[in-house]
Amino acid sequence: MKIIVLKTAEEIGIEAAKIFTDEVKNNPSCVLGLATGATPVPTYNKIKETFSQGGISFKDVKTYNLDEYCNLPKNDKNSYYTFMHEQLFNGLDILEENVHFLDGNATDCDAECKRYDDEINNAGGIDIQLLGIGNNAHIGFNEPADEFTSGSFKVKLTESTINANKIYFDENPMPEYALTMGIRQIMSAKKIVLIATGPKKAEAVRNMIEGPVTAQVPASVLQEHDDVVIFLDEDAASLLKK
Ligand code: F6R
Repeated sequence: MKIIVLKTAEEIGIEAAKIFTDEVKNNPSCVLGLATGATPVPTYNKIKETFSQGGISFKDVKTYNLDEYCNLPKNDKNSYYTFMHEQLFNGLDILEENVHFLDGNATDCDAECKRYDDEINNAGGIDIQLLGIGNNAHIGFNEPADEFTSGSFKVKLTESTINANKIYFDENPMPEYALTMGIRQIMSAKKIVLIATGPKKAEAVRNMIEGPVTAQVPASVLQEHDDVVIFLDEDAASLLKK
């Protein structure tokens, strides 16, 4: 694991965005794995800024998002589909047919998860996967569990995740289920960039980096990946011993 501690979320956004825009410049038809939530927003802003300055196109880039809520209309303001369009895709020249999500409204979730995993594999796998981390060390929506998951699957969200995300749901209750890429699918990405900012992430970050590899700390599995870059601000890094 390569661990980079920077002062602010904005500085992290600049450095993380550069990894993605350099990849797109070098490999214009690359496959990117993307995350939602508050953490990647500075990175997405910087990617859009770099795009607006010219000299880079996302027309041949394919993206696959990590997860999507179940039983939430695709165009709901809280769907991850809406989030990604508002925070990133609408500011790029990426083609709608090249952006991919799990369908949280599928009637047959197992078939939907298989379709998604097959599509990622047929696209050649993910070149760079962006991750945030939950307060409970989840990645994607892989909550603490007895064993590491494999491909995409339907998950019941834990109380910790519901408490962290329900602030976004004002009128309607937050969905209790989501579809998410599984741990082994995430681990098959060629490169992984994880960002953690703020004091609420400090314990999860310590357990991810300095604790044992265990499915109770889903992000700890990243210790076994040979190309992981972890960007932390000083708050998120505050409990690290080394
Ligand atoms: C989002 C995702 C989650 C988030 C995590 C952190 O697609 O997969 O694992 O990365 O819940 O969320 P924020 O960034 O809102 O703290």
